[in-house]
Amino acid sequence: MPEPKLNAEILKKDFPLLERTVRGGKRLVYLDSGATSQKPRVVLDAERDFYENRNAAAHRGAHQLAEEATEAFEGAREVVARFIGANSREVVFTKSATESINLVAYSLSSADSPIQWIPGDEVLLTEMEHHANLIPWQEMAKRTGAILRFIPVTDEGLLDLTNIDTLIGERTRILSFTHASNVLGTTNPVRFLADLAHSVGAVVVLDACQSVPHEAIDVVALGVDLMTFSGHKMLGPTGVGVLWGRFDLLESMPPFLTGGSMIEIVTLESATYSLPPKRFEAGVPNMAQAVGLAAAVNYLTAVGMDAIAEHELDLVTKAISGLEALPGVRILGPAGPRGGALSFLVDGIHPHDVGQVLDDDGVAVRVGHHCAWPLMRRFGVAATTRATFYLYNTEDDVRALIAGVERAQKFFGSAP
Ligand code: ALA
Repeated sequence: MPEPKLNAEILKKDFPLLERTVRGGKRLVYLDSGATSQKPRVVLDAERDFYENRNAAAHRGAHQLAEEATEAFEGAREVVARFIGANSREVVFTKSATESINLVAYSLSSADSPIQWIPGDEVLLTEMEHHANLIPWQEMAKRTGAILRFIPVTDEGLLDLTNIDTLIGERTRILSFTHASNVLGTTNPVRFLADLAHSVGAVVVLDACQSVPHEAIDVVALGVDLMTFSGHKMLGPTGVGVLWGRFDLLESMPPFLTGGSMIEIVTLESATYSLPPKRFEAGVPNMAQAVGLAAAVNYLTAVGMDAIAEHELDLVTKAISGLEALPGVRILGPAGPRGGALSFLVDGIHPHDVGQVLDDDGVAVRVGHHCAWPLMRRFGVAATTRATFYLYNTEDDVRALIAGVERAQKFFGSAP
């Protein structure tokens, strides 16, 4: 049976923050979920319930509370695993997607890494990565002598695959790229790239920060080896991210952070390490955050990921046609198929000024380089204005965005 269409007006009531007003009583139009999403009451309640009723250090202690905390934390892992079509022993909780990528880059370049680096080996990225999927590899390249290469981006905002056969070759050890661009909205051909990289034996890492919150994801179908995403962009709390990995690969990877919980046997001189996922979860874990993330996943699942994707596509399509109808507005990124990140430029007005006029109207967008400075340079701009949509946004929000841009044009006298 097809999923019922999503009713954002009703869902919105689940998000306490969306009831507040800003800038002297204006309705809040929150179009910055790409940076961080708002949280439904069930997520806030789940965290509170954990602290009020089950708080103890998971995986330590034999008392009842410790057992309940462990059950809650491991239960959360199962919920997250199911959500992406994975087995729970393949799901590592980190503090953020950024930490997940650092974990991978560090582990795969340490002395016991399954990849033995020879200077001149290559890591292939794309020109559209945000800093979290760029700088960890820059640091890794310093440690290993690896060369970073980049799949370029076309003027339309798609990956330029013309020379992909020369970019992926026998020196490629790792391919790491974003599923959906946080700036352009581009959705990349994951399976095609993963298969190509596997044909030369490379490890494939997918940054799914902008896709897992917005569409149904099945890691097996994607065909990647490792995948990262963050909790706070998908209605969950801050302080929790996920690294998913093929178990045999995770099992071959040395730890990133070391300490309690991730060990088997410890002497004064040395230690042996647990199997994944615990090997990568040193210290008392982020239990309340993981429980909150599981509540977010249950909420998203109940709404339906296909309904969410359809709703966002509808909003972004309407926003694109509304903005394109304004003279002097240029949209960066493809017409479709695309995700919900919508970056644009308004002739004669700095993006920060556009953002300020929108903010005066209660419309919260992100302005700046969106943690993707090289991509900004690729398009010859210092900044863009970016709107991102989620399940709680409505057509009224789209209208408010377009009206705000029009008002900015009038205010700055820039409409041609
Ligand atoms: N990467 C996040 C964004 O796109 C912070 O806003």
